[in-house]
Amino acid sequence: MSTPQGYVDVRDSWYYILHPRPAYIIVAEANGKTNFMAASWVMPLSEEPPRIVVALDKESYTAKLIVDSGVFSVNVYTVNERDFVYSAGTISGKDTDKLSLLGAKVSKNPATGIPRIERPRPIGVIESRVYKIYGDVAEDVYLVVGDVVAAYADEKLFNERFGWDLRNTKILLHAAGRGFTTNSYVYVARKLI
Ligand SMILES: Cc1cc2nc3c(=O)[nH]c(=O)nc-3n(C[C@H](O)[C@H](O)[C@H](O)COP(=O)(O)O)c2cc1C
Repeated sequence: MSTPQGYVDVRDSWYYILHPRPAYIIVAEANGKTNFMAASWVMPLSEEPPRIVVALDKESYTAKLIVDSGVFSVNVYTVNERDFVYSAGTISGKDTDKLSLLGAKVSKNPATGIPRIERPRPIGVIESRVYKIYGDVAEDVYLVVGDVVAAYADEKLFNERFGWDLRNTKILLHAAGRGFTTNSYVYVARKLI
């Protein structure tokens, strides 16, 4: 038995130990088709060069559009958009028009040509061009590594020094299943040494 006393074995949902984590919307467009999906398994990879990684189900339609177009964006939302993000993460655009179904609008940044969501308005966007897609690190997901091409955040909610103003910004975090949460009190860490 590898589970110490006082703990429960959560091997089947081990990744939820690493939640809550932000739930984003990934947008892609190729061959005249536009689509988006929810994604929480997203993280910054490096500052130099600026790179981001996203773990995307090989079966998702959005992943296919990213493979075909080589670009995508990561759109950040507050907890107010939980229904939109949950629905974007539970239906596939493979055989439905998710945009009209959810009343969303996607537009391309004229400067980069990369699609991002216009409605519902994200509070932050990272636009990315694919650097490499690894298809052999897992059976079910592509590890998509992207170069950050543009990044912008709501001027009222973000500043370069502190990042999100967490007193006024309730970032959407996914706990598990239909459960979402957000940031609460702001704790400022003291240096121990
Ligand atoms: C909150 C939330 C987070 C999700 N995170 C991811 C993720 O990080 N990677 C992934 O491949 N799928 C993730 N999903 C599932 C996809 O969003 C889902 O499979 C979606 O229907 C794919 O849509 P598409 O086929 O239209 O691209 C998540 C779903 C939800 C609700």
